[in-house]
Amino acid sequence: SGFPSQVRNGLSKLGVPPEVLDFFFQWFDSSEDHPKIPEAKGAVKAIQNEAFFIPLYELHLTYGGIFRLTFGPKSFVIVSDPSIAKHILKDNSKAYSKGILAEILEFVMGKGLIPADGEVWRVRRRTIVPALHQKFVATMINLFGQATQRLCDKLDAAASEGEDVEMESLFSRLTLDIIGKAVFNYDFDSLTNDTGIIEAVYTVLREAEDRSVSPIPFWEIPIWKDISPKQKKVNEALKLVNDTLNELIAICKRMVDEEDLQFHEEYMNEEDPSILHFLVASGDDVSSKQLRDDLMTMLIAGHETSAAVLTWTFYLLSKEPTIMSKLQNEVDSVLGDRLPTIEDVKKLKYTTRVINESLRLYPQPPVLIRRSIESDFLGKYPIKRGEDIFISVWNLHRSPHHWIDADKFNPERWPLDGPNPNETNQNFSYLPFGGGPRKCVGDMFASFETVVAVAMLVRRFNFQIALGAPAVSDFIMSSLCKFLDGFEKLVAVYLIFTKQGVGTVIETAREQILTTESV
Ligand code: HEM
Repeated sequence: SGFPSQVRNGLSKLGVPPEVLDFFFQWFDSSEDHPKIPEAKGAVKAIQNEAFFIPLYELHLTYGGIFRLTFGPKSFVIVSDPSIAKHILKDNSKAYSKGILAEILEFVMGKGLIPADGEVWRVRRRTIVPALHQKFVATMINLFGQATQRLCDKLDAAASEGEDVEMESLFSRLTLDIIGKAVFNYDFDSLTNDTGIIEAVYTVLREAEDRSVSPIPFWEIPIWKDISPKQKKVNEALKLVNDTLNELIAICKRMVDEEDLQFHEEYMNEEDPSILHFLVASGDDVSSKQLRDDLMTMLIAGHETSAAVLTWTFYLLSKEPTIMSKLQNEVDSVLGDRLPTIEDVKKLKYTTRVINESLRLYPQPPVLIRRSIESDFLGKYPIKRGEDIFISVWNLHRSPHHWIDADKFNPERWPLDGPNPNETNQNFSYLPFGGGPRKCVGDMFASFETVVAVAMLVRRFNFQIALGAPAVSDFIMSSLCKFLDGFEKLVAVYLIFTKQGVGTVIETAREQILTTESV
C-alpha cells in the first residue's frame, strides 16, 4: 500500500490521533491507486420486492465477500467473507465501534456491555466476564431444568386437551424466567403469571423494535414525547423496570453486607447465585446507573436470543422426523426420567449438534454491526473512518463457498467425536456467538440452556406444525414489506434482527402453531 500508508502507520504509532491523520492523508486515500469496494447497483429495487436476506444473499453471490450498498447520501459495506470478518472482529477490533447499534439501543441499555465502546466497555467487560465462571454455569443447569419442567407441565395439560399451542411466546417466557433468576435472582414466573413487570419488560422490548423501524425518531420530538400515549406507556414501563432493578440492587447490597463469605474466583452464594450478587460481592465499584444498564443489557441479550434459537430449532425439527427420532433416542438413553445434570449435558452430543446446526441456519442476530473509527484496509480495499459495516453472519453461515448443501439442516455435518464448532476452529465461517474481544459472554450459558430445554421437551413430546399455519417464507415477506422502502427497509430489518434476536422473523414463527402430543 505504498509510502503514504507507511508514514501514516508510523505517525499513528507515535500517537497522532486518527482525525488528524485522516485530514492530512485524505489526498492519498482518494488517489486512484487502490481498488474500490464493488458497488451493488440496482439493489434497492431488488430489496423492495423480496425478503431482505434473499437479495442480500444473492448480491453476495454476485459481488462477492465485500460490496457496498448506496442509497442517496448513505452507504453500507456488507461483509460476507470470513477473513474480513475475522479482521474486523478480532485482528483489528480496536478500529471499530458499535456505531448505529449503540445509538438506537441507548434508551434501554444506556452504556451497558453490548452498546458500550472504548474504556467503559473495557472496564465493564473485565468485571462481568468472571461472574459467569464455570461453577455458576454448572449451578444454572438445575435452574434450566426446573424452568423447562414448568413448561412441560403446561404442555402436558394442552396435549391432554388436544389443544394447539403457540410455542414461540412460551419459549420467550421460558427464557425470561431463566434469565431473570440468573442475572438478578428475580422470579418473573412468567410461565404461570402475567404481572405488571412482565408486561413492562415486553413493552420496552417492543419499543426497541419499533424505534429501529421508524423512519422518524418520534420519541425525540419535544412535545410529542410528553403527550403521546404510547411514549407515556413506554416511559412508565421503563420506569417500572428500572425501579425494580434498583430495588433488586438494594436488596442484594443488604444481603452482601450481612453475609460472611470470603470473595474468591468462583465465589457463589448458594441462596442467590446470580450475576448481580457476584458483582456486588466482588466490590464492583460502579454507579447504580451503570450496574442497572449492564443488568438490563444481559436481560435483553440473554432472553430473545435463546427464545429465537429454541423456536427455530423446533421449526426445523418439525420438518425432519428422522433427525427428531435420532435426537429422541439419544435423550432416552442419556437422560431417562430425571432433570439433566452437567454430566448429562456433556453426553448429549447429538442434541448439541442440533443446536449448533440450528444456529448456523438461523443465527441470532443474523448481522453484526460495526462502524470504523479509523481508516483501515478490508482485504485489498481501503476504507475511511465512519463507515457503517454489516457483517452478514447469515451469508457466512449459508455461503456455498464454505458449506456443502448449505441450506440443508444437517447436524451430522459435524462429527460427534470432533470438537464443538466455533469461530476459531471454523475459521470465522461459523460464528454463532461472534468472535474476538466482543464475543458473547453468555455462550456457554446459552448452549447449556438450549440443550437442556430441547432434551427435556423432545423426551416428553412430539411436535408438528399445526394445520392451517401460514408458510414461514410467505410470512417473512409480508411482514417485512409492509414497513418502509429501500434504504429504510434494509436498515429497519437489520436492526430488528440485531436488537431482539430475530424480531420479525420470530413473529413468523409465532404463527407457526405447533401441535403437542404426549409420547
Ligand atoms: C454479545 C449471540 C445469549 C450476553 C453477543 C454477540 C452475539 C451473541 C453474536 C456478539 C455481538 C457483536 O459482536 O456485535 C448470542 C446468542 C445467544 C446469546 C445466539 C443465545 C443463544 C446470551 C446470554 C447472555 C448474553 C444468555 C447473558 C448472560 C451477551 C453480552 C454481549 C453479547 C453481554 C456483549 C459482549 C461485549 O460486547 O463485550 N451475543 N448471545 N448473550 N452477549 Fe450473547
